[in-house]
Amino acid sequence: MSLFATKSISKLRAEAAETGEHSLKRVLGPLDLVTLGVGAIIGTGIFVLTGQAAAAHAGPAIVLSMVLAGTASALAGLCYAEFASTVPVAGSAYTYGYATLGEFIAWIIGWDLILEYALGAATVAVGWSGYVVSFLHDFGVQFPAHLSAAPGTEVTLADGGIVTAVFNLPAVIIVALVTLLLVIGIRESASANAVIVVVKVGVVLLVILAGAMFVNGANWQPFIPPNTGEFGQYGWSGILRGAGVIFFAYIGFDAVSTAAQEARNPQRDMPFGILGSLIVCTLLYVLVSGVMVGLVSYQQLGVAAPMAVAVDAARGAAAGTSFAGLMGAMPFLVKLGAIAGLSSVMVVMLLGQSRVFFSMARDGLLPPWARAVHSRFRTPYITSIVTGVAVAIAAGFTPINILGELVSIGTLLAFVIVSLGIIVLRYRRPDLERPFKTPLVPLIPILSVIVSLALMLGLPAETWERLLIWMAIGFVVYFVYGYRHSVLRHTSETAISSEPR
Ligand code: ALA
Repeated sequence: MSLFATKSISKLRAEAAETGEHSLKRVLGPLDLVTLGVGAIIGTGIFVLTGQAAAAHAGPAIVLSMVLAGTASALAGLCYAEFASTVPVAGSAYTYGYATLGEFIAWIIGWDLILEYALGAATVAVGWSGYVVSFLHDFGVQFPAHLSAAPGTEVTLADGGIVTAVFNLPAVIIVALVTLLLVIGIRESASANAVIVVVKVGVVLLVILAGAMFVNGANWQPFIPPNTGEFGQYGWSGILRGAGVIFFAYIGFDAVSTAAQEARNPQRDMPFGILGSLIVCTLLYVLVSGVMVGLVSYQQLGVAAPMAVAVDAARGAAAGTSFAGLMGAMPFLVKLGAIAGLSSVMVVMLLGQSRVFFSMARDGLLPPWARAVHSRFRTPYITSIVTGVAVAIAAGFTPINILGELVSIGTLLAFVIVSLGIIVLRYRRPDLERPFKTPLVPLIPILSVIVSLALMLGLPAETWERLLIWMAIGFVVYFVYGYRHSVLRHTSETAISSEPR
């Protein structure tokens, strides 16, 4: 059977409907799915990277970078939504690829998604660690500096001394805690996520509303600082590079699709969950980034906690007004919101990763233990634990910038493949029932490919090299294991070619 054999969509739907030992609980409604999406989206990107990208690349025009990255996500989101409603099973882009572009491409997507979900969780864990250490510092608790960053990182102490870090202990601890939550169960995880989402959306709204009163218009001038002569340093190329960096802030809406098998009515609710969460976040991002670069000069935002720095500036402007008390508490609230917010991002990303591994194991591309479901909790517990250990190691020992850029480029690659998949599926299976249809096909998918590729091109060459190395490792793993153990390769009734066209 060829490398490009596809899995039949009726078989995928039957798998989704199957009950028994290997099935997952169907408990998530439409609001749960939007909450899951928002929980995955708002995180390190807006709390950390947006300010840094404004300082280094885009200036106040970070607002335009936000719109550009949001456009890429919305275009891809429209494609994800059609797939998620047509093929409503766990596994996200991996499963869509299997149904349309064949096993080999599906493997490439699945392998690539490890960059998005597992490394994404690791990136956020490192960001979480930084906020927690800073939060503790505000309360007079000094976390040992050599245990707070990746090996070799130089950490500056309050007294000006410098310590070389050994590993990032808080990042490892948070990954372990989130893994435990996921092993216990999806319902519990989704509820905890909902509480956290309310907290962080509340904090972002507060920054927008309270901050808007103290914006200084002079900080928005010049809106597009002139390019320094180097690609990506301000000017229009700075807006593009900025968009590539803060694209990270939008990653996560597609994690909704990995929970299709746990949704009560996936065909109706998946598009609602994906697009709803994306719309909410885009609005919040454009507003909050505009407020941040209006409260302080963008040059001051190149720090570890830029949103806290921005609201701190408003504190001065609010002194003597009736808002002084509120603005005084804002840095504390922002840090608290960031810590809570980043936790829920990790929940969704690790949840997504274990679901993708679950699907790949069911197809025989990964070993059978990866699809074992716990008899009582009904969660894929072994794969969750193995993923948690690997993510903890990555988070403990890798710097945030290397992790973050790889996550962005890997996710954009998945967007490209999914968007192409929509065109292929319309051509090969025009008959399929599609509860949600991507509008204006092939225009929207083609635009999605172009915008995603443009953002990928905005990222540095080393990131491209790391992506290629990772994918090369994936090819080896596929031909050594997946190719030989593929369930599709060992059965005859599952090829899409055997279905009526
Ligand atoms: N969008 C997620 C974040 O910003 C990955 O942390």
